[in-house]
Amino acid sequence: MTVHFIGAGPGAADLITLRGRDLIAACPVCLYAGSLVPEALLAHCPPGAKIVNTAPMSLDEIIVEIAAAHAAGQDVARLHSGDLSVWSAMGEQLRRLRALDIPYDVTPGVPSFAAAAAVLGAELTLPGVAQSVILTRTSGRASAMPDGETLENFARTGATLAIHLSVHVLSDVVARLTPQYGAGCPVAVVFRASWPDQKVVRATLGTVETSIGEGERTALILVGPALGAEEFTESRLYAGDYDRRYRPVGTEPRFPE
Ligand SMILES: C[S@@+](CC[C@H](N)C(=O)[O-])C[C@H]1O[C@@H](n2cnc3c(N)ncnc32)[C@H](O)[C@@H]1O
Repeated sequence: MTVHFIGAGPGAADLITLRGRDLIAACPVCLYAGSLVPEALLAHCPPGAKIVNTAPMSLDEIIVEIAAAHAAGQDVARLHSGDLSVWSAMGEQLRRLRALDIPYDVTPGVPSFAAAAAVLGAELTLPGVAQSVILTRTSGRASAMPDGETLENFARTGATLAIHLSVHVLSDVVARLTPQYGAGCPVAVVFRASWPDQKVVRATLGTVETSIGEGERTALILVGPALGAEEFTESRLYAGDYDRRYRPVGTEPRFPE
């Protein structure tokens, strides 16, 4: 028996890996985080599967469900939105499973920052502009930010920021980033990327607050000069005179064929 943690992707039902889909189809028990996991994915469950929405459950109750499946020798598909490596609460579940000696594995999913970048048609790491993406959030009721992980500190890097779980405190985000990035810095807010009702707002730090109304909280705030920049250098990788293993160039290539 194994608990298969599966990244369910950002929302569109076809943005799941083939491995994730096949695991759902093979498991007689499916636990899914119903707040963000699309219900359409549950259509992959086999007939008669036990399907449980864990959104209203505590960690203790979730572990009771998993332990019962373990006792019955039934594999479990455990679905969380996006990818499991960020803000999935997978870590605490894995720690409990290790303590109970219950086997598990992890299948990655499409994270929401990648889905948002795809909606924008944006590369977040443009040569000469930004070469790092910082996935972060602001403090919430459930999780405080560790000392040092402040927006001000991240802004000092000039990297592209992908700020999760924070659209409800947009004015605070703007106030903390503007001193470093400047009011003209491009911002994109992508609501519910890849869902049928996705929405995109493109603005600057100076204008974004007036461009966004109240309401929907499933949104990603992307900030940084790489968003929408046209003035960037081309990658050397594809330059005609760039000698590389897969495309030897010149009379004495470093990697002769
Ligand atoms: C609990 S975190 C889950 C993150 C997820 N594990 C991931 O890989 O993106 C939820 C936050 O992720 C962001 N998010 C998740 N799905 C999104 C989507 N489809 N569009 C925009 N933002 C999304 C929002 O900031 C939301 O508040």
